[in-house]
Amino acid sequence: MSLASRLTRTLATLLGRDQPASVAPIRPVRLPDVGPFAPGEHPEARALAPFCVGRGIDVGCGQEKVTPGCIGVDLLGRGEIGKYGVVAGRASVADIQASGDDLPMFADGELDFVVARHNLEHYVDVVRTLQEWRRVLRAGGALAVVVPDERAGDTVFLDPTHKHCFTPESLERLVRTVGGFDDLRTGVVIPGWSFLLSARRSAAGSR
Ligand SMILES: C[S@@+](CC[C@H](N)C(=O)[O-])C[C@H]1O[C@@H](n2cnc3c(N)ncnc32)[C@H](O)[C@@H]1O
Repeated sequence: MSLASRLTRTLATLLGRDQPASVAPIRPVRLPDVGPFAPGEHPEARALAPFCVGRGIDVGCGQEKVTPGCIGVDLLGRGEIGKYGVVAGRASVADIQASGDDLPMFADGELDFVVARHNLEHYVDVVRTLQEWRRVLRAGGALAVVVPDERAGDTVFLDPTHKHCFTPESLERLVRTVGGFDDLRTGVVIPGWSFLLSARRSAAGSR
């Protein structure tokens, strides 16, 4: 191999452009041809907004909360510029800087809703995360999450900070297994891109 091609190869490695086939997507996801949207007009924000009634949190709000009234929670503090995915180069609007799987600033049953748009796939321990969201919800409170749809392709490759992938069936099974939620529903939000799961916190006394 010539020096020039060795240098090109090294540069490609440094830039992450010569991924071995074994770690590249087998089914690449095509970004949908949607947007740009005015604030609050994105179909995912519109799908989640009806659940934002009362006092609640938008976990992983990133650069835009689902509704202005949500309490935004994000690993990135307000004004911090994101590095990955949709938040890359954009400032966080979080009201609270925290990891969404550890919310000691909220008491048990304190919140009317928890919404999370493209956030659940970012946790190593999704069971703990769902348990924490269940803990802060009042009985009857709403959980509504939008996540990438694994049926569209290998969604874990969309963002280097993705840890999990879901289909509507797998996420519904996970939430049922965690327990403490009733009235589970799933539906596609953007075909070939995302789906929504909603549920209600079960009555007090249940898990
Ligand atoms: C793909 S962005 C989604 C941003 C926005 N919700 C949207 O849909 O446009 C994921 C967001 O989750 C945040 N995030 C990742 N891991 C997190 C964690 N453990 N706790 C809270 N936020 C987290 C990131 O900082 C980022 O803002």
